[in-house]
Amino acid sequence: MSGPPAESPPPAGPRELPIGIFDSGVGGLTVLRAIRRDLPGESLLYLGDTARLPYGTKSPRTVTRYAIQTTRRLVKKGIKLLVVACNTASAVALEAVREELDGLPVIGVVRPGAEAAAHASRSGRIAVLSTESTAAYGAYEREIRAIRPDARVLSRGCPLFVALAEEGWSSGPIVQAVAREYLAPILEEHDPDTIVLGCTHFPVLTPTIREVVGPNVAIVDSAATTARAVRAELDSRGLRGTERPEGTIRLFATDAPERFDRVAARFLPPDLIPREIELVDLLP
Ligand code: DGL
Repeated sequence: MSGPPAESPPPAGPRELPIGIFDSGVGGLTVLRAIRRDLPGESLLYLGDTARLPYGTKSPRTVTRYAIQTTRRLVKKGIKLLVVACNTASAVALEAVREELDGLPVIGVVRPGAEAAAHASRSGRIAVLSTESTAAYGAYEREIRAIRPDARVLSRGCPLFVALAEEGWSSGPIVQAVAREYLAPILEEHDPDTIVLGCTHFPVLTPTIREVVGPNVAIVDSAATTARAVRAELDSRGLRGTERPEGTIRLFATDAPERFDRVAARFLPPDLIPREIELVDLLP
């Protein structure tokens, strides 16, 4: 006699799919880390477009094209929500990405960062440090002023900070000199009480930026607020994964996975870095 038919595992519903995260490179791992802290049971797929970094010096048209290609690749792998962890792509390409996703939820980092700044500032004088493209596009100003119309926002591109963070130089005399060069005129001209780190790479430079700006200026970055926005979005759509102690993490790079691995160690604790960084080609 044959027994009852063997039960096949139920198909994974959308709740069990991973969250997709993309950035131009490794910097967005600061966002992955915050999401992991807030939502340890969720599985995460991270794609760093290292072949085409930096996005921050490129035109909105090019960044949008790259962002859409990256989005398509993550959607193909199966995700339930996309996080655009790159500030430049969030600033210039979020709407195009949203259209591409056709109803799948997407969270960018600009709005959460703007919210954090608008709430942290007492005087309403806010400075945003970012890539040149993010500064030129004015996305942070618009988002901050939508929440707080009285805010006075100054945006400055600080492209050398990206190179320093990539190099693993987060402190020391050279980093201090660069930080002083960028920040002294901002402090003098604008007298901000809040500084937004509007670029994925800048959080690793926080101690040096703190030394230069002193103890009375609030420094905010969007990683923690983005993680909270992700949690709220998953909850509102009933997409939170079923409770499990730890989700998986997979990291993809479009070039030089060994370099990605090395630089990732500056952004993530070793236990969160998988054994293999997977190479992915976005071009057809
Ligand atoms: N990920 C970029 C951003 O947050 C920084 C690096 C780049 O320029 O691509 O704007």
